[in-house]
Amino acid sequence: MSFDLTPVVDAVYVVAILVFILGLKAMSSPATARRGIVYAGVAMLVAVVVVFGVSGLSNFALIALAVIIGGGAGWYWARVVKMTAMPQMVAMFNGMGGGAAGAIAAVELLTNLHAGATVGLSLAGATIGGISIAGSMIAFLKLQGWMPSRPVVLPARQVVNFTVLVIGLGFGAYSVLAVNSFYLLPFFVLLLLYGLLLTLPIGGADMPVVISLFNALTGIAVALDGFALVNGPLGDAGYGMVIAGTLVGAAGSLLTLLMARAMNRSLTNVLFGAFGAKEETGGTIAGSLKPISPEDAASLLEYSGLVIVAPGYGMAVAQAQQKVKELFDVLTGKGVNVKFAIHPVAGRMPGHMNVLLAEAGIPYDHLFDRDEINAEFPNADVVLVIGANDVVNPAARRTGSPLEGMPILDVDKARNVIVVKRGQGKGFAGIENELFYKDNCRMLYGDAQQVVGELVQAIKHA
Ligand code: TAP
Repeated sequence: MSFDLTPVVDAVYVVAILVFILGLKAMSSPATARRGIVYAGVAMLVAVVVVFGVSGLSNFALIALAVIIGGGAGWYWARVVKMTAMPQMVAMFNGMGGGAAGAIAAVELLTNLHAGATVGLSLAGATIGGISIAGSMIAFLKLQGWMPSRPVVLPARQVVNFTVLVIGLGFGAYSVLAVNSFYLLPFFVLLLLYGLLLTLPIGGADMPVVISLFNALTGIAVALDGFALVNGPLGDAGYGMVIAGTLVGAAGSLLTLLMARAMNRSLTNVLFGAFGAKEETGGTIAGSLKPISPEDAASLLEYSGLVIVAPGYGMAVAQAQQKVKELFDVLTGKGVNVKFAIHPVAGRMPGHMNVLLAEAGIPYDHLFDRDEINAEFPNADVVLVIGANDVVNPAARRTGSPLEGMPILDVDKARNVIVVKRGQGKGFAGIENELFYKDNCRMLYGDAQQVVGELVQAIKHA
């Protein structure tokens, strides 16, 4: 006697989807984000497991093997990845999602090319999934440093890109109209090429926005595949893919727009503007670099009314967040008001600074984003910049700078600025920082963890 488990599968899918939504909601605050990730992970695990109960499915052993290999590789990589290499891991995982969506659509197209309505959905899923995997791979290579992160700007690129896309889509449409799967090959090749060409002119600093966009596209591709599969092997369980894909598409689109807005850019400008391709022009820097000792920096901090800490990538590399918490404790213990200025793209991933500082136990009500804190810099006695560079570079206000237009933390407007960094290293954008040469700025050289530790000791023993 055999049982049809499909109604059970459908019911479990509904529960998994509700848990997905709860997980997304929890991710909207740093206080509950960790719980949100666990919810979403459990929901995904359940959704994958119950699919084995869909009637009429075969090849269980192969599916299980794929899940074990893919799940094992993902688990291992996520455990060993350094916090600073997170963006490229996300790019790679997201690319795999796009690739999977494209592959599912390819199978659907090869088996159901004659199938009317669903074939359009599969074609759309294949298009978006193909662009997403190719683009995500370029994003991975740039962020991993395996290819130059500067924009690669080819001549007449807009015309070339558009032509590649149109011819690719033409092959796809013709393969459907002629019911001839041969033309799917050039269709896929040209779409992958379009994904590469679209991403090459995008500079490394814009990559997080682009990864988020590809993530949203992957979600949409999965949703389209889900619609196609509802009429095929998955039946109603395909709606699980539709809803999960739609959630990813909606959340990813919002994140993309928020990040573009944080950099004061339109999405069109991020995608087609080749930001950062131009060489720096003008702006010879006046002044000199003026070092300060940890002892002198400690007394400046200790006798301040308001200290604003501006952390950046260097704090993450040095793993200095625990020492920063100790500094926060000793200074607040001495009655100093300490606030943290968080730039939305400080570090190498969205929320990077929030995650590290929250992990170290800095209370959330001391973290302020750029819009909240920028007006307060003129009132700050000291701004302590810890391993930040581009996000505090006043060159962004200057026409002709590669950073032109990027909103920054206005730390140069404080009475005193102390910058903790190891030496003369440039920031991610690779340009000089005018802040370091200003009259009110002192350089405190050394590894952030060690230097902040020295500040703590000096203040404790003062
Ligand atoms: P960056 O501009 O990357 O500057 C980091 C600074 O930290 C460097 O100047 C470096 O100078 C210093 N540093 C490195 N290791 C250090 C250590 N162990 N101890 C002390 N200092 C150290 O950082 P940022 O201001 O956070 O800006 C982030 C940049 O990355 C932006 O351009 C942003 O657009 C881009 N980006 C952001 C993201 C997201 S979503 N956050 C993703 C990709 C790219 P020394 O070498 O002299 O020490």
